[in-house]
Amino acid sequence: MAESARPVVGIIGGSGVYDLDGLTDKEWRTVESPWGQPSDQLLFATLDGMPVVFLPRHGRGHPLSPSSINYRANIDALKRAGVTEILSVSAVGSLREDLEPGTFVLVDQFIDRTFAREKSFFGQGCVAHVSVAHPVCGRLGGHLLDAATETGIRLVEGGTYLAMEGLQFSTKAESKLYRSWGCDVIGMTNMPEAKLAREAELCYASVAMVTDFDCWHPDHDHVTVEQVVKVLLSNADKARSLVKAAIPRLKDREAACEKGCHHALDHAIITAPES
Ligand code: ADE
Repeated sequence: MAESARPVVGIIGGSGVYDLDGLTDKEWRTVESPWGQPSDQLLFATLDGMPVVFLPRHGRGHPLSPSSINYRANIDALKRAGVTEILSVSAVGSLREDLEPGTFVLVDQFIDRTFAREKSFFGQGCVAHVSVAHPVCGRLGGHLLDAATETGIRLVEGGTYLAMEGLQFSTKAESKLYRSWGCDVIGMTNMPEAKLAREAELCYASVAMVTDFDCWHPDHDHVTVEQVVKVLLSNADKARSLVKAAIPRLKDREAACEKGCHHALDHAIITAPES
């Protein structure tokens, strides 16, 4: 990636987080991608003098299911819009007793159980194998943690996110299995989003908002959309405040991510260059 001195933050907002307050110079613009249709137009705006680009993951009005989102087009469109770092916000179920609904988790690992989505920009013509050993950006995560301290919002540092295909929620046996694997939260959207962001050499961090105890919990009923939406809506302001407080912290960051996100392809391409 060209060394961009100018951070441009992309926000992929999940259900309940469709906008940020405090944005100025707002303009919805269509960004074309050769990978197909992004979820929606992108909202170009300014926050405290910094350029930000917002993309509603499911589209405005939530017409897209997790399985029908074109993750490649979304990441590509953000990259074409000049985005250098992505803050992802999404709803998750809890697989841990101490992660109650309303808790925010700064995810740092994933187990990808999705199977019906395009997961790579590579594979036809050019083959690349990027490392996703550390799938989220530590630098961006650090700014979110500082923002959490500043705003007084509890953000649990680290957690393994089980990405499931859906659309149905898990069976009890699946939910128990994921707990036995050491997973902390479960959701349907962060994969392949995080992997594609790495392939696109963009920093990526994920704030997961717990909306329910997944169905493993003996004292809670099975998950319902009504419950998920209720918790989402009552916590969306907090999610927005967290993201808003994190963005200005990027203003004076080093141009290239010291964690290597902006150079993820340096040692990943295996196809011989055309002579
Ligand atoms: N999103 C919110 N809650 C969820 C759950 N329990 N399982 C999968 N995705 C979710």
